[in-house]
Amino acid sequence: MHILGISGSLRKASLNSAALRACADLLPAGVTLSVFDLSPIPLYDEDVRAQGLPEPVQQLREQIRAADALLIATPEYNYSIPGVLKNAIDWASRPPEQPFNGKPVALIGATPGGFGTSRAQYHLRQVFVYLNAHLLNQPEAFISAAPTKFDEQGKLTDAATADQLRKLLAALDQWTRRLQG
Ligand SMILES: Cc1cc2nc3c(=O)[nH]c(=O)nc-3n(C[C@H](O)[C@H](O)[C@H](O)COP(=O)(O)O)c2cc1C
Repeated sequence: MHILGISGSLRKASLNSAALRACADLLPAGVTLSVFDLSPIPLYDEDVRAQGLPEPVQQLREQIRAADALLIATPEYNYSIPGVLKNAIDWASRPPEQPFNGKPVALIGATPGGFGTSRAQYHLRQVFVYLNAHLLNQPEAFISAAPTKFDEQGKLTDAATADQLRKLLAALDQWTRRLQG
């Protein structure tokens, strides 16, 4: 069982990328996680698409298709989904055979703020309704006051958050196996 992780932040010291890295150490037995880097994905342009999908977009679509499940770590920008992440979803979602269809997806998010990216995560859930992905409902993972939970190197130091992420990953594993029958 393989999970593809996607962070909605490009910056090196990203709390969301740090949370994804932490997840790699909290996986259930038999589960692997790799992370797709969104930085080479261009801005969506229908004229470009008409000439063929750019190579990084093709890679993203192939890796989504090949993964058993997705784990998306989203920042919250202005109460919603950051453009970098929405742009990547928009590219990947174009027909034919959009790869989110039927895919198990779990969301996490980290912010210095107090609401743990909940508003961005609920907007993402709405986007994935149209794309017919199967979102894990519970448990949720809203990492608020995140700079107090990671050290200077971006290593997760908060035991309660680690426990929360471990439970979410176990639930994603079960959810994926259930959907795969
Ligand atoms: C344009 C912009 C808008 C933001 N809006 C929100 C917001 O609505 N809610 C929130 O909790 N944090 C907000 N923040 C702060 C981000 O949560 C913070 O920059 C966070 O560290 C970004 O995630 P990253 O560390 O993975 O890059 C905003 C940041 C930026 C740059």
